[in-house]
Amino acid sequence: MFKIVRKRLLAPQIYLMDVLAPRVARSAKPGQFLIVKMDEKGERIPLTICDYDAEKGTVTIVFQTLGSSTQQMAKYEEGDSFADFVGPLGQPSEMVHENLEELMKKKILFVAGGVGTAPVYPQVKWLHENGIAADVIIGTKTRDTLLFEEEMKAVAGNVYVATDDGSYGYKGLVTNLLKDLVQVQGKQYDLVVAIGPMIMMKFVSILTKELGIHTIVSLNPIMVDGTGMCGACRVTVGGTVKFACVDGPEFDGHLVNFDEAMRRQAMYKDAEGRKVLKAVEGDTHHAKGCECHENSEGGR
Ligand code: NAD
Ligand code: FES
Repeated sequence: MFKIVRKRLLAPQIYLMDVLAPRVARSAKPGQFLIVKMDEKGERIPLTICDYDAEKGTVTIVFQTLGSSTQQMAKYEEGDSFADFVGPLGQPSEMVHENLEELMKKKILFVAGGVGTAPVYPQVKWLHENGIAADVIIGTKTRDTLLFEEEMKAVAGNVYVATDDGSYGYKGLVTNLLKDLVQVQGKQYDLVVAIGPMIMMKFVSILTKELGIHTIVSLNPIMVDGTGMCGACRVTVGGTVKFACVDGPEFDGHLVNFDEAMRRQAMYKDAEGRKVLKAVEGDTHHAKGCECHENSEGGR
């Protein structure tokens, strides 16, 4: 059992939990995810790791209540325990494997969208611990849903906030702010890492392709079981079929077929759509075996 040692409401319907899971905390790397199961029969919920403390043995998760499973999860309080907390899963961020001296030469910009801001934090913190100050754009609907601003300021170079309604910081989408930084303010970046809703990652990738900036995206939102079994996270990257939970979750944003991935994501949500996918894709609908999930919420 994995005990919740801290719970906070960060914004309406968005919760943070620190969970006692020493083995996961010791081996987690930025960019990886884990699977939470509330009880033996519960749905497997893939969540990107938002922080980890090897000394305390805790792992931080942030989630938004979207469907019945996450609503149930939000009812758990400090002292309650999850039946399963499996991880770390997936490949760590590309930067973890890079030569530090080479990495230090790069100007890095993170584009964090909504709840996707939480998984950006461990990457920016890891860079900070290695002497690199990355810039961060945080995009959110309104000031009330802004997450991790202070935490990010403590580990980043410049932190820019964009709100859709203009209630705080720049008024407009992250893509407009990114364009402004590069084309008006003359900022230069060698790498952009975008983590947030699929639609945001798609349009950030289109823009950075025009600007000639290498871009990494995290395809956690299309995951369902996170174990390579269900086939939900099948995505075409550079013409090759990949599974986000096994081969990712991070990929080159300029090579991802976002439209196909978003279309599959929408179809996977109901039984009829899954039947169509199975008919069209045959066995390749499933990565290794079949375990279609009724009313599954998808990754967060
Ligand atoms: P949101 O709808 O508030 O969007 C966040 C920001 O994305 C917006 O403020 C805007 O600046 C930008 N954006 C939205 N549409 C855009 C467009 N068409 N063009 C350019 N920019 C656009 O985000 P939310 O409601 O918090 O949704 C969170 C999403 O993040 C969920 O879909 C969840 O699955 C996803 N998520 C992803 C990860 C990951 O690892 N990629 C992790 C956690 C959550
Ligand atoms: Fe990757 Fe199910 S989430 S195969």
